[in-house]
Amino acid sequence: MKDLKALIEKIVTAYGPTGSENHVAELITKEIEPYVDSIRIDPLGNLIAVKKAEGPKVMLAAHMDEIGIMVTHIDDKGFLRFAPLGGINPNVLLGTRCVFANGTRGVYGSERLNPGESLTLAKMYIDIGAKDKEDAAQKVKIGDSAGADYPMVDLGDRLVSKAMDDRIACVILIETIKQLKNPKVESHFVFTVQEEVGLRGARTSAYSVDPDYGIAIDVTRTGDTPKGITMDVSLGEGPTVKVRDSSILCHPKMIAFMKEVAEKEEIPYQLEILEAGGTDSGAIHLTRSGVPSGVMSIACRYIHTPSEMIDINDVTNGIKLMTKILESEFPKI
Ligand code: CO
Ligand code: ZN
Repeated sequence: MKDLKALIEKIVTAYGPTGSENHVAELITKEIEPYVDSIRIDPLGNLIAVKKAEGPKVMLAAHMDEIGIMVTHIDDKGFLRFAPLGGINPNVLLGTRCVFANGTRGVYGSERLNPGESLTLAKMYIDIGAKDKEDAAQKVKIGDSAGADYPMVDLGDRLVSKAMDDRIACVILIETIKQLKNPKVESHFVFTVQEEVGLRGARTSAYSVDPDYGIAIDVTRTGDTPKGITMDVSLGEGPTVKVRDSSILCHPKMIAFMKEVAEKEEIPYQLEILEAGGTDSGAIHLTRSGVPSGVMSIACRYIHTPSEMIDINDVTNGIKLMTKILESEFPKI
């Protein structure tokens, strides 16, 4: 468990806003290189690792990018204006810190709001402690990207960090690669780019991999917080088998198959319906003439904040379920 937590910490705290995933790809490459038959980076930056075996081709996808911001303007006093990379709620940004690729750090501030006026990203800026425009321009340029700047916090079974979405799934795939023994399928592990801006990496990599089946792994919301959303997913009750979200109706045979494996191996699981949000399978299943696809999710509180919370037991059960899935006979479609 200590090793797993250390791996999670390394991967989730790495810098990697949407469009700047190369550092995360390097870290993952180091972890999996000895365990795969081939590894490549495609033209968009997706990291694709293959474990050969007799049988149909399965694409597994977890996205490497995290939500972030891109600098659009530096004013005379050295404050930065920015555009979002992915879905960001301004209310959770205010007062939090961000970090750029070169290590420059900043704080999100806001203009004074009139009574009743709601906070928007256009009213916000980043303060990097610069004295003026020139000083700021030494550290940050237009087009530079930043992600949240927070360490991982270990609360016991529950871990809190930025970028659990979706690095926790990258960790699950890394561990699945390491633990897989007798796969019944040829596994193409794709660590995708640019999920947060519209499943872009999954779209192109699914075309090149041309899989017979697709499975994405991502985080999902929960219904287990005070007066939260109505959703039958809770932290610590197992990985989910997704039924649908805004991007996909999972293939009924994939849902049945994933449930069957979980039940046979006595791995706890939850059925997931996510009413708002999508993931890489949304792009994979629409590739070429269609790819029967499913999704496994990890329950996560406070998604798209710097304090995303997961339960480590869902991670270990997720690794087990994914490994057993790849060691099982896939359904005839
Ligand atoms: Co996300
Ligand atoms: Zn995600």
